[in-house]
Amino acid sequence: MTLAEAFRMTYDVRPSGVWSAPGRVNLIGEHTDYNDGFVLPFAIAARTSVAAAPRDDDLLRMRSLQQPSGDASVTLDALEPGRPEGWASYVAGVVWAVREQGHEVRGADLVVDGRVPLGGGLSSSHALEVAVAIAVNDLFGLGLDTDALADLTRLAENKFVGAPTGLMDQLALLRGQAGHALFLDTRSLHAEQVPLDPAADGYALVVIDTKVHHSLGDGAYADRRAACERAAAQLGLGSLRDLALDGLAQRLAGLDDELCRRARHVVTENARVPAAVDALRSRDWAELGSLMNASHTSLRDDYEVSCDELDVAVEAARRAGAVAARMTGGGFGGSAIALAPARRMPALRSEVVSAFAAAGWPTPGVFEVAPSDGARRDH
Ligand code: GLA
Repeated sequence: MTLAEAFRMTYDVRPSGVWSAPGRVNLIGEHTDYNDGFVLPFAIAARTSVAAAPRDDDLLRMRSLQQPSGDASVTLDALEPGRPEGWASYVAGVVWAVREQGHEVRGADLVVDGRVPLGGGLSSSHALEVAVAIAVNDLFGLGLDTDALADLTRLAENKFVGAPTGLMDQLALLRGQAGHALFLDTRSLHAEQVPLDPAADGYALVVIDTKVHHSLGDGAYADRRAACERAAAQLGLGSLRDLALDGLAQRLAGLDDELCRRARHVVTENARVPAAVDALRSRDWAELGSLMNASHTSLRDDYEVSCDELDVAVEAARRAGAVAARMTGGGFGGSAIALAPARRMPALRSEVVSAFAAAGWPTPGVFEVAPSDGARRDH
């Protein structure tokens, strides 16, 4: 059954359209986006789709094909952070944010088909929010452009869902282009599409989903963000973006050990992103690999957002011949990304699966990914 058919069976009318948004993997540039820094994500093929139709009243009805007993229904005036909760908060949060920003909308009926692995660190929540945002934008003729849609979904995520995330994921999903990674300056929002086609040189990109679920609303993410703000304030800076790599050790000398390590990660990671873009442009996979590997070390030791499962996944992938392996996304679980010669993929898969079995952990997901198109109207 198609999503449009599921919609018709649920609400007895045809949807006005079907919209979708992908998940994303970040190649490099982690925990830099809320420090005004650089990121290099790409959209993946897995997508979340939303079928929707406007209503004449102010009722919002939501159903998810993945949560059969989780239907939700709420009037627009009753929307407030925490109400509704659970998966429906990602849908309702976007509609709430649209109204917060002063746009006129009525109620709507929606059915969601989420195919981005939930809690896997591949931005499943943003995929849902962005798909709903582009649907609402079309349904009510709001005329919002990509940057306004990104702002809107960030407002929903930060204030309604309660996760203080940056802008990387929304923009990666909205601006993603097949065959490219998005080099984004989160301060100016200047973006460049950088060709990313490892297959042409015999390489493959693989995601390792540790199956350790993380929530960005659980405090550790907010704690890192607050540490960066404290470090910047103590250094008299607006943000850590303004700290140069040259002379870094001296500049950080007055900070306590924790703030020093957090700031060091952000500054070194910010320097690695443009270097990774240069490596990509010259298709220097070995150089890209060493930058990605250094990123993981920095996230593990200085920023402390990795976990045992991510470290084991990364090490197993490297043992099996990956030139690069690092955690991707917020961390504390979720997924790792590895770059390896395509012929090493079977070995990589079995090395990772055996390492998890030996540790007594559930079997991880191991699947290839390729840069794919961003959010769009499908029907
Ligand atoms: C999550 C957030 C992003 C970003 C990453 C870490 O994915 O949604 O804004 O901060 O973590 O790089």
